[in-house]
Amino acid sequence: MKNESPLVAKGKTLGIIGAGVMGRTLLRGLLDSGLITKSQAWGTAKTESSCETAARELGVPVELEYEHRLKNTGMLLICVKPAQAAKVMAHLRESGLPKDTLMVSIMAGLTRAQLEDLLGTANPWIRAMPNTPCIVREGMTVICAGTHASDAQMNRAQRVFQAVGLCQQVDEMYFNAITALSGSGPAYQYLIMESFADAGVRVGLPRHLALTLVAQTAVGAARMVQASGRHPASLRDDVTTPAGCTIGGLLMLEDGKIRSVLARAIEEATKIAGSLGEPKRS
Ligand SMILES: NC(=O)c1ccc[n+]([C@@H]2O[C@H](COP(=O)([O-])OP(=O)(O)OC[C@H]3O[C@@H](n4cnc5c(N)ncnc54)[C@H](OP(=O)(O)O)[C@@H]3O)[C@@H](O)[C@H]2O)c1
Repeated sequence: MKNESPLVAKGKTLGIIGAGVMGRTLLRGLLDSGLITKSQAWGTAKTESSCETAARELGVPVELEYEHRLKNTGMLLICVKPAQAAKVMAHLRESGLPKDTLMVSIMAGLTRAQLEDLLGTANPWIRAMPNTPCIVREGMTVICAGTHASDAQMNRAQRVFQAVGLCQQVDEMYFNAITALSGSGPAYQYLIMESFADAGVRVGLPRHLALTLVAQTAVGAARMVQASGRHPASLRDDVTTPAGCTIGGLLMLEDGKIRSVLARAIEEATKIAGSLGEPKRS
């Protein structure tokens, strides 16, 4: 990717508003991958202690007072909770945010139209939905462009998230479903893995061994799907011998309605994702 333009232009910086779990993860990914240098990065959080923790961890300025940095900020990642969005946007608007700063939001539930409306400027916006495996650079992120974002700016945002995993451009109409499937997805996978580990203990395995087996089996199966490009049902058939133990276990899972239980979970989470950007009743 040597001939790609720099992520932020010479003399410009990249800022993180909300140096929490996701904000710090994204900044670490950008620094580790060499997409930006330490001198190009800065961040802020709500409390002094969070600023200190992030600054120590990342080796870049993370401070309560950041307004003086805005004039040179080429890209700003908004990583606060959705409930903080209105306050943060009002503050940015009043603090001299340049009109050409590329804004990237990872806030769940806030649409492009809401983001543009909250900031009330013509800044280009990109809406993203990452997930926590970005921490180990195995994240899944989707992005879509706001009204004023160009293809080149989408490309820059995509490179941010590719530093911590896969990133795909999608239509915003899919965001609620994606929030459920890959945003909340790790939590569902953890529950499934925990259940399998318990099952291992039930049939006599030490817990740490059971968890090692379960986690690596999940990694391996996921890699098989990605590497082969084959349908999971076809891969499943490969390991299902006639009258063997796998078909016996599969039938028990089907008896427990595993498919509809998982589908209903995603259906419910999708519905809730659609209501996250709505004003909260007190
Ligand atoms: N975690 C996930 O799985 C996930 C996945 C996809 C998207 N997201 C989205 O990512 C965003 C952040 O999630 P997170 O898990 O990283 O939350 P988090 O760890 O709580 O981080 C939020 C950060 O925002 C800071 N903050 C709050 N108000 C602020 C303000 N007025 N100005 C500047 N900073 C402020 C907080 O500072 P203090 O630490 O000082 O309070 C904290 O560092 C959320 O919008 C969420 O919807 C999360």
